[in-house]
Amino acid sequence: MFLALPFLLPGIFMSSMSANATAPADAIEQRVNTLLAEMTIEEKIGQMSQVNGGDSYIHDYLRDALRAGRVGSVLNEVDVNVVNELQRIAVEESRLGIPLIIGRDVIHGFKTVMPIPLGQAATWNPVIVSSGARVAAREAASVGVNWTFAPMIDISRDPRWGRIAESLGEDPYLASELGTAMVRGFQGDDLSAKDTIAACAKHFVGYGESESGRDYATTNIPENELRNVHLRPFHAAAKAGVMTMMTSFSDLDGVPATANEYLVNDILRGEWGFDGFVVSDWDSVRQLSIHGLTANDRESACEAAIAGVDMEMHGDAYLNHLAQLVDDGKVPLEAVDTAVANILRAKFRLGLFENPYTDPNDFPPFADADALETAREAALQSVVMLKNEHHVLPLSADQLSSIALIGPLADTPYEQLGTWIFDGDPRYSVTPLGAIETLVGDGVDVRYLKAMETSRSRDTSAFDEAEALAAETDATVLFLGEEAILSGEAHSRADISLPGAQAELVGRIRASGKPVIVVILAGRPLTLTNIVDEVDAILFAWHPGSMGGPAIADLLFGIESPSGKLPVTFPRMVGQIPIYYYQKNTGKPPSPETIAHIDDIDAKAPQLSLGMTSFHLDAGYTPLFAFGHGLSYAYFNYENLTTSTSEMALDGSITISVDVTNTSGITADEVVQLYVRDLVGNVTRPLRELKGFRRLTLAPGERVTVDFELTADDLAFYGRKMQRMTEPGEFHAWVGSSSEAGLMAEFRIVGER
Ligand code: GLC
Repeated sequence: MFLALPFLLPGIFMSSMSANATAPADAIEQRVNTLLAEMTIEEKIGQMSQVNGGDSYIHDYLRDALRAGRVGSVLNEVDVNVVNELQRIAVEESRLGIPLIIGRDVIHGFKTVMPIPLGQAATWNPVIVSSGARVAAREAASVGVNWTFAPMIDISRDPRWGRIAESLGEDPYLASELGTAMVRGFQGDDLSAKDTIAACAKHFVGYGESESGRDYATTNIPENELRNVHLRPFHAAAKAGVMTMMTSFSDLDGVPATANEYLVNDILRGEWGFDGFVVSDWDSVRQLSIHGLTANDRESACEAAIAGVDMEMHGDAYLNHLAQLVDDGKVPLEAVDTAVANILRAKFRLGLFENPYTDPNDFPPFADADALETAREAALQSVVMLKNEHHVLPLSADQLSSIALIGPLADTPYEQLGTWIFDGDPRYSVTPLGAIETLVGDGVDVRYLKAMETSRSRDTSAFDEAEALAAETDATVLFLGEEAILSGEAHSRADISLPGAQAELVGRIRASGKPVIVVILAGRPLTLTNIVDEVDAILFAWHPGSMGGPAIADLLFGIESPSGKLPVTFPRMVGQIPIYYYQKNTGKPPSPETIAHIDDIDAKAPQLSLGMTSFHLDAGYTPLFAFGHGLSYAYFNYENLTTSTSEMALDGSITISVDVTNTSGITADEVVQLYVRDLVGNVTRPLRELKGFRRLTLAPGERVTVDFELTADDLAFYGRKMQRMTEPGEFHAWVGSSSEAGLMAEFRIVGER
């Protein structure tokens, strides 16, 4: 355990965390310290300041600031000529020639857009997630961006929250595995390579617990929950060598993350030995006075600097006050030196001192074949088939003479890209309408009707025409959901049902008596209870990105089988939230007999007649669709669940094995999931926790044995005294195709506590 002196230069941490160092860590540390020793306090504070670009023009005040060494980073400039000029001024016209780190929100693609991160999480596939980040890094680097503000790994269990779209879902293990895959994709094996960029794990920490799902709202998270749930993906990212972290806007237990010394200096630096740098969120330093933690920018700068926030994003509190705060002894000079060292270390690792300039000719064109194929594969694996009654899917082009495509989201090149696509280019989008016409248009009469101008429209004047079209064609595919603007930052919804008159449209199409398939494009789970029994099949496609159309077409017509699995629970109604799968048992757990519909209660039912357990009279206690749920056109049989031992020593391990057979006649993917329950703990433990998963591709009839090895560390948790521990005792393990299914085995951990 390192001695966590808050302002000790983290050189002592270097070897433990410099997973991506391009040069020997001590060589870089030497260069950091040498440069630091030459810098004035103004130049040091300049490195801690990030300014906004994006005008494709360099204002005189910015030129002057660069020459004076008062800028360490620029965000939102993506004109490569302007970026090169910014770098030229910083490198050739300032006293020390320190290059800039150029940041941008490259969240799920740059020009070529992958599915939104929540959709990528539905792939349960670290390989495709990493590949998508690789494409994004290559395209962003070609314009001089060398830092992305991704991955967003806030644990998100409230679908009212608009930013769930950017997240990797509700589970800490899945978010850890996929978040680190994104880090690897962005940062590659050599950060100084021209097509790699620094990643940024955000928003540190607990932002997803914003009260009522309203963005920027207060969060109150008990430390036990913080450590056992929300910190886990950030710790994984730190261990994976993520270069930077971003503090959250949110107020955590009364101390906003941007001023939270316990989070940044004690946990991130002290416990984890993180040696990258920490950037605030947009203006979140100055917002400390709006929170009411400080009275003014000077106090805000003091709080953030002492907490360990190295760089201020788009604010001038550091520029205007930090030098005086150091003079006044309010902020130790060591705090500034540590912050600047963290920033310089990143710039050295990125190779910016050797190669500050970008030549676009060193890169492939945007949206090249590799980029588009990666986007298509990611979209394909992200789509979750929630329902498929009577095998209505896949459709057969041979058996259909006509098909109706109806709804506001069948042909929206921009909307299918989703939120946070500053640079996404809809010209590269292939929509479902376009893809279906290309795939089957030669033999099938494809009839299209938008029927609603937007998802929120309440104008039903086209619904007669829609119903008639459904009646005169062989099947209808409805494209419903939310436009991109309805999720993302500051875009939370209190009612997460299908907006507008979409549910009414479903009813009208149902009346046609023909097969009704619904494809939903949305940035969050929706409460589909009012349509789920009205339709024969549902494909949930999130916002699938540039190549969402071909992916959806191939799935609808059976070229490919759906393989996505839900990374987040779908509630029956918004009143059930929060309803994530790793609930605790409570002292009065509900049972399957628990009544699930308020209308079924007899008049004058006696007070105790409904069972005194934990459920809602009008919703029961189960979700509409469970975490890990997702259907396939194939069938997979799980059998022979075994454990390598019935008693595992605390210093040992256990292997949990199962045979999975594809009993269908098609090749398809299955995501095999391992869940564990620790029956008795120093604190109460969840009913199930994801501890492993494997995406398999199985040929018809193919059987594989899947082995999951668990060690005591895999089963560790923070107890009531915040000690990380694994205890002897009884455990249950399930392996199956969702958090609800699965064969169950039991084992014990033996040994002294
Ligand atoms: C935003 C977001 C953050 C983003 C930053 C820069 O407000 O909270 O995720 O990276 O500002 O755009």
